Amino acid sequence: MYKINLSLLWFFITIIGFISKQIIALDCRDYTDPLSYKSTKVKCDIVKNEDYDKITANSTEFLSPSEAFVIDFTCGSSDTTLCEKAKNAFISAGQRIASVIRFNTPIRVNASFAALSANTLGSAKPARTIPLQDQDGIIRLYPQALVKQMQFPSHPEFSTYDITALFSSTADVFFKEDVTIQTNQYDFEYIVTHEYIHGLGFISYWREWFVPDFPDLTPYPEFLVDNTDPSKPITYTGFTETAFDRYMVLNTTDKIKMTTLAQQINKFAPIGKKFPSLISFEESFLDSRQSYIAENLSYAAINPYSMDFVTNDSTPVILETKIIPFNPGSSVTHVDTLYMNTSDFLMVYVAQPGITLDDIIIKNGNASGGAIGPYLTKVLETLGYTTANNLSPYRPTLPKSGSNNISPSLSMAISLIITITLSQYFNIF
Ligand SMILES: *[C@@H]1O[C@H](CO)[C@@H](O)[C@H](O)[C@H]1NC(C)=O
Ligand SMILES: *[C@@H]1O[C@H](CO)[C@@H](O)[C@H](O)[C@H]1NC(C)=O
Ligand SMILES: *[C@@H]1O[C@H](CO)[C@@H](O)[C@H](O)[C@H]1NC(C)=O
Ligand SMILES: *[C@@H]1O[C@H](CO)[C@@H](O)[C@H](O)[C@H]1NC(C)=O
Ligand SMILES: *[C@@H]1O[C@H](CO)[C@@H](O)[C@H](O)[C@H]1NC(C)=O
Ligand SMILES: *[C@@H]1O[C@H](CO)[C@@H](O)[C@H](O)[C@H]1NC(C)=O
Ligand SMILES: *[C@@H]1O[C@H](CO)[C@@H](O)[C@H](O)[C@H]1NC(C)=O
Repeated sequence: MYKINLSLLWFFITIIGFISKQIIALDCRDYTDPLSYKSTKVKCDIVKNEDYDKITANSTEFLSPSEAFVIDFTCGSSDTTLCEKAKNAFISAGQRIASVIRFNTPIRVNASFAALSANTLGSAKPARTIPLQDQDGIIRLYPQALVKQMQFPSHPEFSTYDITALFSSTADVFFKEDVTIQTNQYDFEYIVTHEYIHGLGFISYWREWFVPDFPDLTPYPEFLVDNTDPSKPITYTGFTETAFDRYMVLNTTDKIKMTTLAQQINKFAPIGKKFPSLISFEESFLDSRQSYIAENLSYAAINPYSMDFVTNDSTPVILETKIIPFNPGSSVTHVDTLYMNTSDFLMVYVAQPGITLDDIIIKNGNASGGAIGPYLTKVLETLGYTTANNLSPYRPTLPKSGSNNISPSLSMAISLIITITLSQYFNIF
């Protein structure tokens, strides 16, 4: 009896092993316009890593800060001096990050500087996200910049760029060549450094995606992405988390992990269930037990000290949950403003005018990481980046199955429109 069972089991495992060897592509998402939440689903073929032998043989060697960021700069202004200043800031921001994070393969940035609408300063985001399987078995979205550093023997095909960045050439901002900053000016390099960090994966997908219909807080409803017509049927595929979301914890007595709640919310319907229209999906979701969890979380998202990013060494980093009403792109996906006057000022959502990045760093104690504070360093290490203190970072794996439906997009169904201005506030999109 046992023998038979065991051999069946073995057979089963072999089949899974066989299938997993057969994955030839994954669903990636490309974000070509940094100011829009539109993205395109692309099939990423699994390709051999040409650098594998070279890099693994030299695993203790990293790129110098000046080699780590490769900036392809497009200037839309005819003012060549201004263009030069902007380009220097894009380069310098990368060097600040690479003096703390050790990169084994360059981060390629598609950096554009062009006239944008009045109160938009600019934005940067991952150019491509790639679904990878975490140790807990859950597939989450990783930014290409990080996936590249992981040096898998084979990997999903990469896009030319890791980060796509677009900043305003008409905004009144400060460049270090200007010498004196005006009281109303923002240091351009400060804004770019902040945005690069989002491009490296400091992004939560917990949001109120269904506003204005209802405020439930959920991970990303990927299944609504390509649904541009609300009368079209919807096939439910579950809500998707980012790599960042894995580490989010609710600051309640039981310190429940938000990924546990994401899994509960995901049980809303069997994967593959069809809904005749967006309205019928929304009605059905609102009637569900899962909606209560998501509604509760929407209160937590506007209640101070409710959500933390808990780093690999169990340090809670408090996330921004004070903004009322919830502000998509600012709420949750930044650190709490209590870090504003500390060496971890960089990732608060309110930018500080009238002071240069270097002066903010000095004012806040001139920490050794410069703009990259100690908590931010821990967050980046936890996501999987290498630093002097984190020489063998955590590695997820390629998903066991290629036919996942979990790759995300920021493109939204008609009822999910989100405004995207960036004035004095940092806002992801
Ligand atoms: C680079 O960015 C610009 C502006 O955001 C965009 O128009 C262009 O398509 C991007 N290039 C690539 C190869 O993604
Ligand atoms: C790796 O190390 C070998 C031998 O030490 C050296 O020849 C080679 O240039 C190194 N490769 C890189 C990418 O640094
Ligand atoms: C909602 O939150 C309250 C208080 O925090 C808690 O008692 C309740 O169990 C939560 N309900 C759900 C469905 O999560
Ligand atoms: C947890 O909540 C309490 C009460 O609001 C607060 O004092 C504390 O700072 C919070 N801790 C974290 C790590 O968020
Ligand atoms: C930070 O310092 C400024 C003055 O430099 C002050 O106005 C602000 O309230 C402080 N913020 C926090 C969160 O401590
Ligand atoms: C800040 O620290 C750097 C080294 O990390 C040092 O070179 C610089 O002089 C310091 N600046 C001030 C004003 O203390
Ligand atoms: C924590 O970090 C260590 C070393 O970087 C790594 O081996 C371990 O897998 C990480 N744990 C988690 C839960 O990410």
